Amino acid sequence: MSDKVILAYSGGLDTSVAIRWLREKYGWDVIAVAVDVGNEADFTLIKQKAVNVGAIKAIVLEAKDSFINDYVFPALKANAVYEGEYPLGTALGRPLIAKLLVEEAKKEGAVAIAHGCTGKGNDQVRIEVAINALAPNIKILAPAREWGMTRQQTIDYAKRYGIPIPITSSSPYSLDESLWGRAIECGVLEDPWNEPPDDAYSWTKSPDETPDEPAYIEIDFEGGIPVAVNQQRQDGVSLVGYLNELAGRHGVGRIDHLESRLVGIKSREIYEAPAAIVLLQAHQALETMTLSRDQLSFKRRVAEEYANLIYNGYWFSGLRQDLAAYVESSQRFVTGTVRLKLFKGNCSVVGRKSPFSLYNYGLATYDKGDRFDQSDAAGFIHLWGLPVKTQSQVQWADRTKP
Ligand code: ARG
Repeated sequence: MSDKVILAYSGGLDTSVAIRWLREKYGWDVIAVAVDVGNEADFTLIKQKAVNVGAIKAIVLEAKDSFINDYVFPALKANAVYEGEYPLGTALGRPLIAKLLVEEAKKEGAVAIAHGCTGKGNDQVRIEVAINALAPNIKILAPAREWGMTRQQTIDYAKRYGIPIPITSSSPYSLDESLWGRAIECGVLEDPWNEPPDDAYSWTKSPDETPDEPAYIEIDFEGGIPVAVNQQRQDGVSLVGYLNELAGRHGVGRIDHLESRLVGIKSREIYEAPAAIVLLQAHQALETMTLSRDQLSFKRRVAEEYANLIYNGYWFSGLRQDLAAYVESSQRFVTGTVRLKLFKGNCSVVGRKSPFSLYNYGLATYDKGDRFDQSDAAGFIHLWGLPVKTQSQVQWADRTKP
């Protein structure tokens, strides 16, 4: 009996060729595993294809629920956005996929796990760091990094073995999808000066094709988690799916990011992430109402660190878990409702309310009902400015210079 290898399978050209290549090169039986994190793929077809191409078994794992609740929502609570642009739709799926591959490998008694990442991207790092953290003794193979074939040679290899070449490989773009967003790379996008052509987008409408009436939506949060849209309670997966559709129809969610990859290169990435954009904006708006100034400013620093950890493949690190505990604690009172307007590619917050609001009308108003004692301000300013005044008298000869 041959040894078994678990292959992370997408149904695309590279991973299909990999099924054959692993068999040829190592003589191993390949078990293809496809993971559904909300990529809009036909998984029945993918499964069939894996077997046709030579896998001894093909498995589809439904993981949308875990993806949203265990990976996406913790990142949302943290407001994790890489370099201020990328909501991490691909990066967040990788530790989950790795975890599922490891579980499958153990179940099947496989000696190795293989994935289809190339040597130039972040995904190879995320997947391998995660596998090593969860199953330090399993072998990892990256056929597309090892075989040294060009795109054309891969196609020739596929033809030679009767592996169907997907129509999508004639598409000018490389795609990756999850419920938290769609990443589009390659082709004309590789010139950062080129405006992305319309055919790069599929989840979002161009602003000139969006409705002429804005859509107003209300999102309810409980402890930092979105639980309802327009008073309709929904589980996380359907809520995110619903917002992807609705906000995408209004052209919301397009991101053009010149990104700094972990492997040292800059790459031009286009993303469509309608639900992520809406929810991140809404969540932050609710935090401005329910967290103190100090909490907000500390949390912004945590957000950047958290995003870097996710991007860099450190999901299973101790620091990520520590930060998650802090973020979790910070969300105790992030409960309330945010009202947003979706219109012609823009998403704006137009209202917010919370039972735990720190906004106090009596303190803020300039109208009658003002409970703020303005005479307190003079003494406060005096002490606040005291160190600056003291220093300037001793150390700045010319106080007219900036
Ligand atoms: N640059 C993004 C990231 O590193 C998107 C990667 C898309 N992945 C892919 N295999 N096409 O997260």
